[in-house]
Amino acid sequence: MNKRIVVFASGSGSNFKNIVNKIKLHKLSAKIYLLVSNNPNCEAVNFAKRNGIDIFIYNSKRFPNDKSQIYLSEKLISYNLDLILLAGYMKKISTSIVNKYKNKILNIHPSLLPLYGGKGFYGLKVHNEVHKNNEEESGATVHFIDSNYDTGPILIQKKIKLEADISVQDIADRVLKVEHEIYFKALKLFCHNKIFWKNNKPLIKG
Ligand code: GRF
Repeated sequence: MNKRIVVFASGSGSNFKNIVNKIKLHKLSAKIYLLVSNNPNCEAVNFAKRNGIDIFIYNSKRFPNDKSQIYLSEKLISYNLDLILLAGYMKKISTSIVNKYKNKILNIHPSLLPLYGGKGFYGLKVHNEVHKNNEEESGATVHFIDSNYDTGPILIQKKIKLEADISVQDIADRVLKVEHEIYFKALKLFCHNKIFWKNNKPLIKG
């Protein structure tokens, strides 16, 4: 049975596109049913439109009084989903949604968490700091979310070595490639029921 997946994205959506394309290519038993975005004009939304994926725009312009994300929650319930993938989603998920989908919401982060995570660490800001600190390595992390920024249990990380003279843009480009690789790997593990939980930590079978 296909796993029912919902993706949240706010920007260029390269992780979202990569996952949609790879599901087709690798015949993974998963289907992206819905894209949630706060930004109706972003490339992720355009891609969803072109690919016949349902779109739910959730922002304060459309739902000015929805402080508890009740409309978003109702939408998600209607899709009977198995997993949520956050892929460059710039808004915080409410605690009620985090609790309702405990261990069912993954996020991808462009650093080796817990390094360079937390509020304010997103996009090039992460890579700028890594560069400024002359780090010898960086990478990406896939983790389940909790109600804080970037602190939830880690599922997969992959490191890359950084040469001494590497530019910020090169770090960003190389890390993004790693993100695409490990986010799909994480999805595959989920779809093949390879993830299990022990003492609140996700472990991988086999
Ligand atoms: C990625 O770097 C991801 O780690 C972060 O937001 C960025 C989204 O990139 N959470 P894209 O929109 O998938 O290209």
